[in-house]
Amino acid sequence: MATEEIVKEALFKVGGLVEPPYFVGREAELERLCNDARDLTQSNLILAPRRFGKSSLLHNIKKQLQDEEQLLIPYVNCREITSYADFHRVTVAALLSEYESKTRVAGLLEAFRFVLKERVLRAVQRVEEIGGSLSEVGRVYLRFREQEVEDTELARAAFRFFRSFAEEKSVRVVFLLDEFQEVAGFNGFLFNLFKKELDEVPNVRYFFSGSSMRMLSSIFLREDAPLYLMVSRHYMEPLRENTVADFVRQRLAIAGLAITNPAVQLLHALTGGIPYYIQKLGVLVVQSAFLRSTTKITVSQVRDGFDAMLEELDSEFEVRWFARFSNQQRTIVKTLAQLGEARMKDIAAEMRVQRYDISSAVNRLRDMMILATKSDGSYYVIDCVFAAWLNKP
Ligand SMILES: Nc1ncnc2c1ncn2[C@@H]1O[C@H](COP(=O)(O)OP(=O)(O)OP(=O)(O)O)[C@@H](O)[C@H]1O
Ligand SMILES: [Mg+2]
Repeated sequence: MATEEIVKEALFKVGGLVEPPYFVGREAELERLCNDARDLTQSNLILAPRRFGKSSLLHNIKKQLQDEEQLLIPYVNCREITSYADFHRVTVAALLSEYESKTRVAGLLEAFRFVLKERVLRAVQRVEEIGGSLSEVGRVYLRFREQEVEDTELARAAFRFFRSFAEEKSVRVVFLLDEFQEVAGFNGFLFNLFKKELDEVPNVRYFFSGSSMRMLSSIFLREDAPLYLMVSRHYMEPLRENTVADFVRQRLAIAGLAITNPAVQLLHALTGGIPYYIQKLGVLVVQSAFLRSTTKITVSQVRDGFDAMLEELDSEFEVRWFARFSNQQRTIVKTLAQLGEARMKDIAAEMRVQRYDISSAVNRLRDMMILATKSDGSYYVIDCVFAAWLNKP
């Protein structure tokens, strides 16, 4: 009989970066992106709604390529970047730290931090001692500190540094820029710099990832956007039913648990194949099985687990509901959650308004990756767990 004590490893992992065996599917994406990174074929934009596993995908690209010679893959979370000075500090530090961990050469990152923080005179001295491209980028920072140059100059210097550092150390560099929608508010200056780099620099590439088309469209997707057609786009899908079924079965088996076919199908359907919810529901279903002292999970435990999950997500969904949407958007999302799947004219009819009254709000919701369209043109709420929460009596 399975008990919690005999299970040594966690069966599921909810939140944070995951690796195999907790990271499943995504084989095609991983292969393509790893090839692009290895050969510096092109830069990429990875788009998916929240919780589809973007950060984990980036993490696994890095992991798969960790033994690749002369290839550096610095990871940057763009939430840390709210100014050009941040951009400079965070990206340069990420590159140096990646170089140090790959080559086991120490001291560069520490020297860079010294230059950022120490009193100017000592910093100047240190900058001169370091030499090479790092000296160069440090010097620009000191001029910025002395208010001799604008902060935009820091962004320019950072890009110059990536290029010259790569040449100097004979390395290829692939920057992973996660949550890139967070810098969408920067003015065109930064993106024009990116464009120039994408055009001209042979040994540095960028993998951008983000979860809002609305914010990213002005950078990548619109015809007048600075990086339009400069990167290859990938839209991540939910995990497929058989991937989910295999994963859930394998994880449960570790604790001596099994799941019926209808139950695992239901688990996939209720989570919509969204990775985060699969793992979270996995945990709750196991808890329900332990409580009932059963080793075979059935539809009823999946239903119980799902109810518990909605309850756990209650406050988070409530915040999302009131913070992110306008009144009209709320009515649209709620109507569509009830209808399940509907064309624009049917949503409008249900709301007793004209189609043109809601079309721009619907498009906006689609760009926010809240709604998506099927091939027949009908709309649905992407996050079906959120939709189920909205439909709760
Ligand atoms: N390929 C995968 N296989 C199984 N579970 C996954 C996979 N990718 C992600 N998950 C699950 O989803 C959770 C969230 O993953 P991750 O943080 O990578 O998503 P994200 O898209 O970056 O989310 P956010 O939009 O919040 O930044 C993970 O902690 C894990 O539970
Ligand atoms: Mg993420």
